[in-house]
Amino acid sequence: MSVVNEVFTLFSRHGAGAYYGESVSMLEHALQAAHFAREDGAPPQLIVAALLHDVGHLLEDVPDDIAQWTEDAHHETVGGAWLARRFGEGVSDPVRLHVPAKRYLCATDSTYLSQLSSASVITLKLQGGPMSVAEVAAFEAEPSYREAVRVRLCDDRGKVAGLHTASLASYRPLIEGLARG
Ligand SMILES: [Fe+2]
Repeated sequence: MSVVNEVFTLFSRHGAGAYYGESVSMLEHALQAAHFAREDGAPPQLIVAALLHDVGHLLEDVPDDIAQWTEDAHHETVGGAWLARRFGEGVSDPVRLHVPAKRYLCATDSTYLSQLSSASVITLKLQGGPMSVAEVAAFEAEPSYREAVRVRLCDDRGKVAGLHTASLASYRPLIEGLARG
C-alpha cells in the first residue's frame, strides 16, 4: 500500500474517535493542526507534520476517556518512528519532539501554561511536567526543536469545535510529494 493510502486508511479506521478530552474528533484535530500550519505559512514538511503529529494515537489502542490514562502512551515516539520509515526527518522529527515541545514551552513561556486546555494540563503531568533547565538545554540542541515548537503550537490551536477546514483528500499531493519511494 502506498504511504498516502496507509495514512488515509488509518484516519478512516480511527479518525472519527474523540480527540482525548477535547470537543473535536481525531480527524478534525489533525485537519485543524494542518490548517493552522498552512495559515502560518509553514513549509510543506511542517504542514504534513502537523497533519500527522498524532498518528501514534491512530496506531495504538488507548482509552477514549483521558481520565483512564495511568501513564503516558508515548504516542510521539510511536508516531515519530512510524513516520521516519515513510518520510524524511523534516516530517518525522517535529512529530517525535512535539510532546517534549509542550514541556519546553511550559518551562520557557510563562503565558503558555495558562493557555493549555484542561485535558492538556492532565497529560502534561503524565508527560513529566515542565522541563528542567538541563532538559531545556538538551531540547535546544535538537536540530528540529524550532519546528517541533511550531507543530506544537498548531496542535494546541487545533481544538476548535465546528471549524471549517480543507478535507483530508486535499492533502494527497502534499503527502505523495514528501513520502519516500
Ligand atoms: Fe495533537
